[in-house]
Amino acid sequence: MTDKPLIAVWGNPSSGKTVTAVKLAQAFASRKLNVLLLCCDAHCPSISTIAPQGAAKHSSLGELLSQPTLTQEELLRYALPLDVSPHIALLGYKKGDNAFSYASFDRERAVDFLTLARHLADVVLVDCASYLSADPLSTVALEVADTVFRLHSCELKSLMFYASYLPLLADARFQRSTSVSVLSNVKPEQDEREYSQVFGGIQVTLPHVTTLEQQAASARLLDELSGKETQAYNTGIRQMIEWVIPGQPHPPQPVTPPSSASSGKIAAVLQRLWPKRRGGEQ
Ligand SMILES: Nc1ncnc2c1ncn2[C@@H]1O[C@H](COP(=O)(O)OP(=O)(O)O)[C@@H](O)[C@H]1O
Ligand SMILES: [Mg+2]
Repeated sequence: MTDKPLIAVWGNPSSGKTVTAVKLAQAFASRKLNVLLLCCDAHCPSISTIAPQGAAKHSSLGELLSQPTLTQEELLRYALPLDVSPHIALLGYKKGDNAFSYASFDRERAVDFLTLARHLADVVLVDCASYLSADPLSTVALEVADTVFRLHSCELKSLMFYASYLPLLADARFQRSTSVSVLSNVKPEQDEREYSQVFGGIQVTLPHVTTLEQQAASARLLDELSGKETQAYNTGIRQMIEWVIPGQPHPPQPVTPPSSASSGKIAAVLQRLWPKRRGGEQ
């Protein structure tokens, strides 16, 4: 791992990639590390939902990537520093952007861009698009990242998403990163144990937090999360940070949570849909 880590947050649609990337950025920033948060999902631009005040001043990542040449100065000119957190700068697509707003760019441009980004921040966090076919930047981020956090939600559609995408990531170019499986936005009524078994090797669990849901709904994700309800969530974020920051002795091991009340029916469905992956097989 390089001294300045590049982290990709990826997973099924609505698994919590953006929410988690913001909370990771805040956790790094609280350790006085300068974070560049790249929001790559051009199909669902998130800058206005993360920093509504600053968004009006923000120029799109799509515009930057379609410049004839990329320089550090240009990248800095496009990055949006946050008043609320001087250690975080954002760069992403802006409200109204869509897949046709800018000239398309190739893999080489994505590599150049991420290489430049690494020189500018202590930590580069890439909030990836779920659908890689539409986004060379997210694809390259998964290749060059030091750590990829793979977010899974406790839903059948997450299972279906991974059944389609994991074979694509079997290629050797994706094997460089350490990938850490995260069960995300787990609600009390969801069968965490069954899903952990079916996905296999879950290393971190991020529970559903009502305050966080409210933050996301009111474009206040940069507010601090505090209170008893958030303890388990903050522990999960801390485990993720410890995974990335060099010198931390023991990354968390895969955990099998206690069985929840709702087993049975869902277990049977999961067994039918994904029999081979039960019991932690990767
Ligand atoms: N840990 C969590 N607690 C509560 N709500 C969450 C949590 N993680 C995600 N969410 C909810 O899920 C929604 C989708 O999250 P988001 O990060 O936008 O997904 P993605 O970027 O993967 O599409 C958020 O608007 C929020 O309501
Ligand atoms: Mg998102």
